[in-house]
Amino acid sequence: MVIISPNNPTGAVYPREVLQEMVALAEKHELVIFTDEIYDQITYEGAEYTPVATLVKHTLCGTFSGLSKVYRSCGFRVGWLSFSGEKDNAREYMLGLDTLMSLRLCSNVVGQWAVQTALGGYQSILDLTKPGGRLFQTRAAVLEGVRRSKYLTVLPPRGAIYAFPGVDLTKLPSFDDQKFAIELLERKHVLVAPGTSFNVPYRNHFRITLLPDEKTMADVFARMEDLLDEYAALD
Ligand SMILES: Cc1ncc(COP(=O)(O)O)c(C=O)c1O
Repeated sequence: MVIISPNNPTGAVYPREVLQEMVALAEKHELVIFTDEIYDQITYEGAEYTPVATLVKHTLCGTFSGLSKVYRSCGFRVGWLSFSGEKDNAREYMLGLDTLMSLRLCSNVVGQWAVQTALGGYQSILDLTKPGGRLFQTRAAVLEGVRRSKYLTVLPPRGAIYAFPGVDLTKLPSFDDQKFAIELLERKHVLVAPGTSFNVPYRNHFRITLLPDEKTMADVFARMEDLLDEYAALD
């Protein structure tokens, strides 16, 4: 079972009770849990992040993290995987992974030196996620852009650096996320990821990142609304 919370692409932060139920399901069916918590410290408005490892007892749990997101150092190419829960049956598997890590997937040594400083140092991400911080303000610009839009809805992201807006199909029945992403890029010079690239079975969502500053994000929403207005005139 794969769990990603805080989530890319939706920005969901799964509540503890939901995670408890997922863990119970995995334990009941003897599934290994892989939980990607690389956005663990990126939460908004008091959303509670729960490390899945704290809930797992009776199956193997692998927790992924790294320097790319919370520490904004994706170029360092440093990540890690830690195991917890029921490890007795997984000794050989972990040994195999250890060999693979040493021979093939080893992070560069200089990058590894950054880990202690990152984890033990000043947690500057918290300045970005609180009111007035860059990510918080851009998230507010996204929510405002959606509020003003005639076509868009969104579940406010509670964590990570993404939002996953949807288009109201009663207003734009022929909307297609792939076509929108291409036309938005070619005609309005804005890059979004179509929802179907994350394997969702519907075609009316897209992912945006919270990385631009809030002014740029307001401009992005104006450009998207222009294109959606054009679609509305044709639908
Ligand atoms: C959930 C999740 N895990 C891992 C990564 C990848 O991180 P890295 O840059 O370390 O490959 C991403 C990047 O978008 C991500 O969204």
